[in-house]
Amino acid sequence: MGLGVVGKAFLRLLMVEREDLYRKYGLDPSVVAVADSKTAAYNPLGLNIERLLEHKERVGSLEGYPDQIDLDTKSLIKEVEAEVLVEITPSNLTTGEPGLSHIKGALISGKHVITANKGPLAIEMPALVELFDHKGLRILFSGTVGGGTPFLKFVKKCLSGERIVSIRGVLNGTTNYILNRMEHGISFQDALKEAQEKGYAEADPTNDVDGWDSAAKLVILSNWAMDSGVTMSDVTVKGIRDVVLHRDLLKEGKTIRLIATSDDEGLRVQPEVLPRNDPLVVPDALNAVSFTAEISGRHTLVGKGAGGKETAAALIRDLVELKMYMRGGVGLC
Ligand code: HSE
Repeated sequence: MGLGVVGKAFLRLLMVEREDLYRKYGLDPSVVAVADSKTAAYNPLGLNIERLLEHKERVGSLEGYPDQIDLDTKSLIKEVEAEVLVEITPSNLTTGEPGLSHIKGALISGKHVITANKGPLAIEMPALVELFDHKGLRILFSGTVGGGTPFLKFVKKCLSGERIVSIRGVLNGTTNYILNRMEHGISFQDALKEAQEKGYAEADPTNDVDGWDSAAKLVILSNWAMDSGVTMSDVTVKGIRDVVLHRDLLKEGKTIRLIATSDDEGLRVQPEVLPRNDPLVVPDALNAVSFTAEISGRHTLVGKGAGGKETAAALIRDLVELKMYMRGGVGLC
């Protein structure tokens, strides 16, 4: 579900990696149905991805494609026989829709879900995870936080056996880019325009600059790593619109970053003054997360937080993990 930047990149990557995925993991997936916001295609024997993508590029939708089917997305999810739904429609942080209904449809019809859509999880993560568990299904979402950087897999697989006492991170590339540019004397508005031109910011950048995108990612991280049982309404949120970067602050070797924190005082997103040598002070549109584990201490992971190709790589990683799970093997780090 969803044939935008990430959806197309995911299908392309499936084609490019096909041989390797089969050789390394015995994974040879058939894509039986694909839908964008208005049109859908279905072939129980497997769609021809190359032809489908070429049609989508040329026509802008699946209208007129030989395997086009007149079914709304909910019926498609219910009626198509498939093992997994890949849900990558745009994130709506207020209602979670249409992703939330798609994911619930998959649950009802017995399909695993892989998603990079933050909305449904930010709004209903504790209930969704429990429902999937209850039905013996998996919902995997490593692309929701950090694009292709495996923050979620890192904390779960590489820090297993230890309690995570706090999470602090830069979870939004747009605001990190803007704050970096403001250090060089560029105004907030000009830096935002640059971030939009570079494709970091959402079309409506409110969720980026006002901190809601960071809050959604923090909810997912905190539930995942700290078992917090929280949703968006549990986060105190302040964005970067009022931030002023005084020369004196920069001269003292400090700067400001939008930091998302989950600790024993709760969840919050706010601009914070940090020394320039703090591991969370990263350049450009990068993301960085410090996990503090009870015994081994602080671990910081830095990487690109967005991008179609990068997020598609996270979806493929989830697909491999699902395959290992279905085979009864262990997941990857
Ligand atoms: N607009 C988001 C960001 C994209 O700037 O981080 C990735 O979720």
